[in-house]
Amino acid sequence: MARAVDNRKVAIIGCGFVGSATAFALMQSGLFTEMVLVDVDRERAEGEALDIAHGMPFAGPMNIYAGDYDDVADAAIVIVTAGANQQPGETRLDLVHKNVRIFKSIVPEIARRDFPGILLVVSNPVDILTHVALKLSGLPENRVIGSGTVLDTARFKYILGEHLGVDPRNVHARIIGEHGDSEIAVWSTANVSGIPVNDFCELRGHFEHEEAMERIAEDVKNSAYEIIAKKKATYYGIAMSVKRICEAIVRDEKPILPVSNYQHGVHGLHDVVLSMPAVVGKDGIEYQVPAPLSEGELARLHESADALKKVMAELDL
Ligand code: NAI
Ligand code: 2OP
Repeated sequence: MARAVDNRKVAIIGCGFVGSATAFALMQSGLFTEMVLVDVDRERAEGEALDIAHGMPFAGPMNIYAGDYDDVADAAIVIVTAGANQQPGETRLDLVHKNVRIFKSIVPEIARRDFPGILLVVSNPVDILTHVALKLSGLPENRVIGSGTVLDTARFKYILGEHLGVDPRNVHARIIGEHGDSEIAVWSTANVSGIPVNDFCELRGHFEHEEAMERIAEDVKNSAYEIIAKKKATYYGIAMSVKRICEAIVRDEKPILPVSNYQHGVHGLHDVVLSMPAVVGKDGIEYQVPAPLSEGELARLHESADALKKVMAELDL
């Protein structure tokens, strides 16, 4: 008989900067009643569990503990944040060989326990590792998701909101493609409360559209490099992004999120995992949304897909 999912249980594999910030955000969210932390450095996992547990009197009770793979098997969501992070000057793709090796030691442990939940990959390069996790796990495509460009999209909304002096929640715009250097800012449909972004810029006294679009897209793309140069790692923005994806799944909210997911023909993309908008609910990816793109955006999306396919083709899986 198939194992049942415990919808109030989450597991985090990898308790470094990203794993612990994610655990902290999830503890405060009230989404789960049980959280298992797994790390090769067991003491690290134990220390994080204890530290985060001390916030419970201010947030609400939950069972948070350091565990192993037997403890994660019935979690609704297993979040993988284990692996090397970028050093200043490194790209995400530079991490691929180290982190594929790490995934080969993690994903089969989860899969062989008949894991019935959603595998949410965060480690970088996230699109490649989501594809690797899909292949290594044998899980259905809808249940293997990468955090993708949910974070880049948040950065895009934040920077546009600052530029325009509006709440970023009223900015409707997204980044698609690789979570990395070939990502694409989708300007053709970007709007603020239904007003096309360039019209809204003019209402706010900004008329140099080409220059502003280029600068903002570059700032979004380079956000992680800037933060890593200044404080060695990024973790709060991704923790909030992961929390949002968990909410969508656990509450079956069905928002459209630019998560990394296996592509089956939308916009002519095949056999590649990258971020495209999808309806996310209790079954993971529930519907791939064929959001319109300009000709230029479509061409860049295919370039991004080709760059990822080239990296995948060189892996020994
Ligand atoms: P970190 O070095 O602080 O933490 C990594 C943790 O993974 C360590 O605690 C380590 O002991 C653990 N680990 C290593 N091998 C393991 C294994 N086989 N099993 C269990 N645990 C293992 O790194 P940080 O900053 O937390 O970054 C983690 C990953 O997340 C990196 O690949 C980084 O690039 C990525 N990341 C992804 C983002 C995204 O938007 N997708 C955003 C920020 C970081
Ligand atoms: C980020 O974008 C490094 O992928 C990580 O913050």
